[in-house]
Amino acid sequence: MAALWEDIFSNKEVLEEIAPIAVDKALLMGVLIRTKDNPNSSDVVNFTPFTLLPSPVPKALFEQAKSVQEDFNLLVDRISQNPSFLEQVLSSTIKVDDFIERLFKIHKHVQDEGLAQSVFLGINRSDYMFDFSEDGTTSLKQIEINTIAASFGGLSSRTPAVHQHVLKTLGKTEEASKILPNNPSHGIARGIAKAWELYGSEKAVVMFLVETTQRNIFDHRYIENELWDRNIRVIRRRLRDVLERGSLNADKALIVDGYEVAVAYFRTGYMPQDYEDKDWEARLLMERSKAVKCPDVATQLVGTKKVQQELSRPLTLEKFLLDRREATARIRETFAGLYTLDIGEEGDKTVEIAIANPDQFVLKPQREGGGNNIYGEEIKEVLEKVKDSIERTSFILMDKIRPRPLKNCLLKAGGQIQISECISELGMFGVYVRQGKQVVMNEGVGHLLRTKATEHEDGGVAAGVAVLDNPYLV
Ligand SMILES: Nc1ncnc2c1ncn2[C@@H]1O[C@H](COP(=O)(O)OP(=O)(O)OP(=O)(O)O)[C@@H](O)[C@H]1O
Ligand SMILES: [Mg+2]
Repeated sequence: MAALWEDIFSNKEVLEEIAPIAVDKALLMGVLIRTKDNPNSSDVVNFTPFTLLPSPVPKALFEQAKSVQEDFNLLVDRISQNPSFLEQVLSSTIKVDDFIERLFKIHKHVQDEGLAQSVFLGINRSDYMFDFSEDGTTSLKQIEINTIAASFGGLSSRTPAVHQHVLKTLGKTEEASKILPNNPSHGIARGIAKAWELYGSEKAVVMFLVETTQRNIFDHRYIENELWDRNIRVIRRRLRDVLERGSLNADKALIVDGYEVAVAYFRTGYMPQDYEDKDWEARLLMERSKAVKCPDVATQLVGTKKVQQELSRPLTLEKFLLDRREATARIRETFAGLYTLDIGEEGDKTVEIAIANPDQFVLKPQREGGGNNIYGEEIKEVLEKVKDSIERTSFILMDKIRPRPLKNCLLKAGGQIQISECISELGMFGVYVRQGKQVVMNEGVGHLLRTKATEHEDGGVAAGVAVLDNPYLV
């Protein structure tokens, strides 16, 4: 496997000839991102960083990830409908994590008031790495499932054509034909359109909730434009805009700038920095409305690392998928070891094993957006500090996944053409729609492969660490 594309990677002349061709193709295909310096202008744009060549991915593991996606969709959706489970699982976390507490309070508020929302839309991305064990076998291990603002469904729809072109240019026509077609933005838009239709008002709009800094706007635009193609109006607003100009009518319809919002699709709101104090009022307003939130606050909470850890306990999955024994097995198969840091004997044991072998684990707080996890010696430092206080319950511990590094050339604007040792992470996009109790759509809608140099433990494409890639099934 390590030898794939070796002829190219060992030939500097070919690399230098092919890299600009690849970059031009990426630009032509619309694999775009705004610049760091001008994140709110499209006057000058960059290509989104990507690998020169597709990375090998074991076919069986790719198929496994694909085949478990509908199970995960169902699981997330069912947990989101179980407030007592969420309350119990997050009870320790909310005491020490202000962000999760604020989300939880909103969740509680709308539960007590009674949900006005009757149509539910989930757009998630389950992320995996390929764990390479000492006996030479490779297995699929879930990193986590993202239930809010899962990105790159748009851009990853455009990268297959880039790698196909690169391979053809290199005379590898047959290999080019093996690049998988991929179009998550189409499936995501289909889900949004379905939710919009079920909301049942032709004049109502889809509102993208966006950050003030909009560097990754092109990724959104692919989905937006698919909606416009279906004659569905899309508006883009910040939480602030909703706060200042949004209201509920007597029917609990969400009205923003005179538009009735059928679907509020969050591409922000997943980390504390996304909210200025007042913005929380906007979130509450939206949650209280009958608009379809993607995700609603309950589903966002399902995506916490704490819930992930709890699901790995014996018999928890069964609680939600009693009628789906095979799904339970398929899901469990992808779980890495996850350990609680709650106060008590079990948590004490976790502290002990983590401090003894910090290199075998990742310590994770309840955060999204990359760059928050703790590795190696720092795990020891942090745990030594918090181990005797309730603070430790803001984290969970996870087995560290160890993929086998493979060579690739990471192309970044202004970067050098060089070969790096890399590891990849596979994401599977899932979309589901539920009306009342009835699931009316449940699909896997495509994939994302991101690759980064091994010197980085953490960080995604937005952070400038990982780059877009395509799986080359082997
Ligand atoms: N168990 C693990 N073993 C090895 N690497 C890991 C593990 N968990 C996370 N990572 C690395 O850290 C990155 C971020 O982890 P994770 O997805 O849990 O955090 P996040 O902040 O939610 O990120 P994202 O913005 O991608 O949702 C992953 O993309 C992966 O590279
Ligand atoms: Mg995440």
